[in-house]
Amino acid sequence: MHDFRFKAGELFCENVKVSAIAGRVGTPFYLYSYKTLTDHFLKIQKAFARVNPLICFAMKSNGNLSLIKSLVDLGAGIDVVSVGELRKALLAQADPKKIVFASVGKTQEEIAFAIKTGILLFNVESEPELKEINRIAGQMGRQVQAAIRINPDVPAPTHEYITTGSLKKKFGIDLRTTRQIFMNRKKYGHVNINGVHIHIGSQIISGMPFVGAIKKVVSFIDELRSFGVHIEYLDIGGGLGIIYKNEVPQTAQNFADRVLPILEKTGLKIIMEPGRFIVGNAGIFVTKVLYVKDNGYKKFVIVDGGMNDLIRPMLYDAYHEIVPIKKSRVARNKVDVVGPICESGDFFALDRPLPVVNRGDLLAVMSAGAYGFAMSSNYNVRPRVAEVMVKGNKFKIVKQRETFEDLMRGEIVVRW
Ligand code: LLP
Repeated sequence: MHDFRFKAGELFCENVKVSAIAGRVGTPFYLYSYKTLTDHFLKIQKAFARVNPLICFAMKSNGNLSLIKSLVDLGAGIDVVSVGELRKALLAQADPKKIVFASVGKTQEEIAFAIKTGILLFNVESEPELKEINRIAGQMGRQVQAAIRINPDVPAPTHEYITTGSLKKKFGIDLRTTRQIFMNRKKYGHVNINGVHIHIGSQIISGMPFVGAIKKVVSFIDELRSFGVHIEYLDIGGGLGIIYKNEVPQTAQNFADRVLPILEKTGLKIIMEPGRFIVGNAGIFVTKVLYVKDNGYKKFVIVDGGMNDLIRPMLYDAYHEIVPIKKSRVARNKVDVVGPICESGDFFALDRPLPVVNRGDLLAVMSAGAYGFAMSSNYNVRPRVAEVMVKGNKFKIVKQRETFEDLMRGEIVVRW
């Protein structure tokens, strides 16, 4: 599954001791395994080989430049959601013809930049947005391609904040409006609306919701085709769940086995946008125990990482396994693993049985590669941490830890 393993009682990333990296880089930091990352990409590619999909890595899950470049070098495209991500994808030398752009609120500047870049297609999330893309493309004298992001109104069993395919959510366009758009497609002279996109949510363990949504959308495409609408692309989004604790998610192969027969029949070009599946288990967060405190009621392990570095436990009640990077035989006790930040929600685990740890011990917060660093912030004037990648027996810093000066850039002491 991943390349973070204990050898002789010490946690390794591929062939490098995590403690050795901590000694050089300091803590906290994110650590990525090149092999796990690329293996996961290749797993999807292999499972779906029969339809030769364009796999656009969802950069929002992890925007590290070296990490993206590693995937681009394997032929990955990129799913971007802002002009910042688009520019970063270009820096990583992604082929613009392999870039798709989703976002419920694309600005004029973003649309113009994407048109200038010559991306493969816009995933359009509302009718006014489609009009705006058409207007801007017209002004620029360009012709662009677009897929309509359909909101298929299917429930997906995952955390409320990361389910997207229901009409209670802001995402995509309902089927009725989509039908109208396709029927009136001539109105949009500068947009070739030749694709359909869905993304029903994230960390979805079972295959059923995907199959249901894909079936729904494929029968909708059949209906459109019967009206003479030409469709070329079907983008099935991301959302594949991974193992954090004891989930039994479908494998890429199971998923492919279930949906390939449906996808193949359509003859469409298939696009996928996995994020977490590729990078989730390819990264860990390494943090140091600062203090251990017992208030008579509870035991707290206070670490140097905080919710600003990894917000998932606080935001989604997400479970991340936590292991001391040196195995010991000492007894376990129940502790809260907490950060130094002034919020009660600043925790990585609550009431977690953990081997007894002491000041200076290092802990690995597992499965932190997706939406970890990407969602980190400078809250409490804390610099964002370093990111390190291991390949075989080498490790390299792929993003420097921020300095105080980095944080002060742009600050102005006002004089009235
Ligand atoms: N495509 C679109 C249009 C998306 O909105 C997303 C994720 C993806 C693809 C990639 O989904 P994935 O394969 O990674 O599940 N911060 C949350 C997850 C938010 C997901 C947002 N959209 C978390 O930490 O769980």
